[in-house]
Amino acid sequence: MTLSPDRFLADLHTLRSIGAAGVGKGVQRRAFSDADLEARRWLMGRFAEAGLTPHMDPCGTVFGLADGPSLLIGSHSDTQPDGGWLDGALGVIAGLEVARAVDRPVSVVSCQDEEGRFGALTGSTVWSGGMSLAEADALRDDAGQSFGAVRAGLTEAGAFVDPARFTGFLEMHIEQGPVLDTTGERIGVVSDIVGIRDMRITLTGQQNHAGTTPMGLRLDAFQALSAFNATLNERLRNVVTPQTVWTIGHVALHPNASSVVPGQVRFSMQWRDGDLDRLSRMEAVIRETVQDIATEYGVECELSPVQGIDPVAMDAGLRDALARAANDVAPGQWRHMPSGALHDASNVARHLPVAMLFVPSIGGISHNFAEDTNEADLVTGLEVLARAVAAL
Ligand code: HGY
Ligand code: MN
Ligand code: MN
Repeated sequence: MTLSPDRFLADLHTLRSIGAAGVGKGVQRRAFSDADLEARRWLMGRFAEAGLTPHMDPCGTVFGLADGPSLLIGSHSDTQPDGGWLDGALGVIAGLEVARAVDRPVSVVSCQDEEGRFGALTGSTVWSGGMSLAEADALRDDAGQSFGAVRAGLTEAGAFVDPARFTGFLEMHIEQGPVLDTTGERIGVVSDIVGIRDMRITLTGQQNHAGTTPMGLRLDAFQALSAFNATLNERLRNVVTPQTVWTIGHVALHPNASSVVPGQVRFSMQWRDGDLDRLSRMEAVIRETVQDIATEYGVECELSPVQGIDPVAMDAGLRDALARAANDVAPGQWRHMPSGALHDASNVARHLPVAMLFVPSIGGISHNFAEDTNEADLVTGLEVLARAVAAL
């Protein structure tokens, strides 16, 4: 096994430079942006240099394919609007380095739109059969552009890759949370990944003059959203656990002007938990609360279809191979832990045994230009991954 940490780190920094933004190591590589496509084309070149067959599928997911049956290792290379340099990219470059260094067939993948510009982990959701390509093509981003329109420009896209050519999937990722950073441990071996539900809610009241419209006569979409949020937090108390999360992350107020009573608000409603039944009960509370508030505030409400990915347990065999390697490389400095973030592994698990390992995030920060990990920890994670692959 001829791992080259320098080559691995150099490739990570080259990938970081494609779409570099903001201060420090920030990156902007939104799915199908020029930077995202440039990065995917660069990756296909690196895959070819490593002796793998480069391939792009209809969604823009790029593979480096080994001949015959192979283990698949990867993640995604698109980012959030204000992205970090490691979220996704780490797993792709680690897969490339393991493919170059370990003497067994390893293929590499960078999934498209894991960060949900269009849908929940769109590329791997379509690839794994969670959604048809036609359904994905109808998905729109917050600016109204469709997935179908942006992928039409992929001149080099070929067919979907048959998952049956792979024997399993491993994904190395930054933790994106505070656990390892707090405990001082260096490796997390993932036990399971939470489930996620995503919907868009639109509340429509009456746009009016902010000076002449008495408070009692307003049909104010922002006031309705504010009341929805407060009431929802109250009603979820007896449904959730300390690990449950829910987020209103995107809010578009119309007309978003200081002298106008807002007539409409369109916002994202996302919730996550490790328990399928709790996800459903939360959905029922959300639906009931938005209806109650709409009635009370005299606004119309429109709920989009709910998108989601169910909770997934990691494959015990692959997970234990990672645990043994972690114990060899970092004895006493690793732990089993759940993932509160979603990953392409959640989708790939529909077809293949999957497992994941984490390295620490400094300050637990992610989805932020400031996202970072000590390079020594990145190399430790690579060594654990490579050792596990060699032992499989
Ligand atoms: O949101 C997530 O969990 C992932 O980073 N897209
Ligand atoms: Mn990610
Ligand atoms: Mn992410």
